[in-house]
Amino acid sequence: NYMKDDKVSQETKILISSLPPDKDFMGYGLYNYKGCWYYPNTLQAVLDVQKHFRPRSTDIILASLPKGGTTWLKSLTFAVVNREKYRKNPQLHPLLSQNPHDLVPFLEIELYTSNQTPDLSKFPSPMIFSTHMHLNTLHEATTKSSSSPCKIVYVCRGIKDTFVSGWHYRNMLHRTKMSQDAFELMFDAYCRGVLLYGPYWEHVLSYWKGSLEDKENILFMKYEEIIEEPKVQVKKLAEFLNCPFTKEEEESGSVEEILKLCSLGNLRNLEINKKGTTRIGIDSNVFFRKGEVGDWKNYLTPQMAKTVDEIVESRLRGSGLIF
Ligand code: A3P
Repeated sequence: NYMKDDKVSQETKILISSLPPDKDFMGYGLYNYKGCWYYPNTLQAVLDVQKHFRPRSTDIILASLPKGGTTWLKSLTFAVVNREKYRKNPQLHPLLSQNPHDLVPFLEIELYTSNQTPDLSKFPSPMIFSTHMHLNTLHEATTKSSSSPCKIVYVCRGIKDTFVSGWHYRNMLHRTKMSQDAFELMFDAYCRGVLLYGPYWEHVLSYWKGSLEDKENILFMKYEEIIEEPKVQVKKLAEFLNCPFTKEEEESGSVEEILKLCSLGNLRNLEINKKGTTRIGIDSNVFFRKGEVGDWKNYLTPQMAKTVDEIVESRLRGSGLIF
């Protein structure tokens, strides 16, 4: 539905008619608003977030590109922030009975769709939200809040694995196996940056620069680093969110418990994630696949890898961000 334009107001239609247009690899229209590509309905939701969403300083916003590690970051953050609440009754932990996406709603994909302004007071504090908007766009909302800034955590994943994950996601979503031609078209679109929330490098750079400018409120994490040194990264996340693990917690294995609860193997095998459908209407199981670093090697030719690496390298040059 987000590819359509049935939720778009007259005002936004006028705006869209002035934006640079292009098409995604399937032929759906995308429009470039302030450096980022959106489908019409997504742009409407993004504009509504900018207009109405005003986070409180205690709120937490998780940001990512689709397939960049969103589900894992949602699980880890929810588990870290709420760990005391379920310490005595781990069997009642919400992650065992709800999909991570239903515990941490998307701003522009769930809460601000359908031209409505949601009542956020029903969410317990601290509220955890997520978004795929890039930082400059998100800041239009967050910097207009009357409260002091809320914490923003970004998770970034290497472009080749993000792309390949996105390819599988589309196939799983539509319960189909798209052709090799479609794979190549999608790859070309990725390299041109013409995809929803793209270009990849603009997205990543917006949060990278933001995290350098405002270390206290913006944390930049890497999917590969969480895989490599999960304990270190989860402790860093907790510290950033002002709820560091105490010595006693560390000694009693609290960090390991969270990692186990949020592991791909655990979440994927829960009934709720095997069968259910998330509130945004997507089958729960499609969010869980391999979760490996370097799976792209099984799908991209060396030439494709070289092409995309060169593009990313040239775009990130001088930023200090390296993969
Ligand atoms: P793969 O397709 O490479 O397996 P997102 O959550 O942003 O949609 O990204 C989905 C990717 O994250 C998928 O990657 C998925 O398998 C992986 N993933 C989902 N849950 C995870 C978890 N708990 N731990 C590690 N990776 C996870």
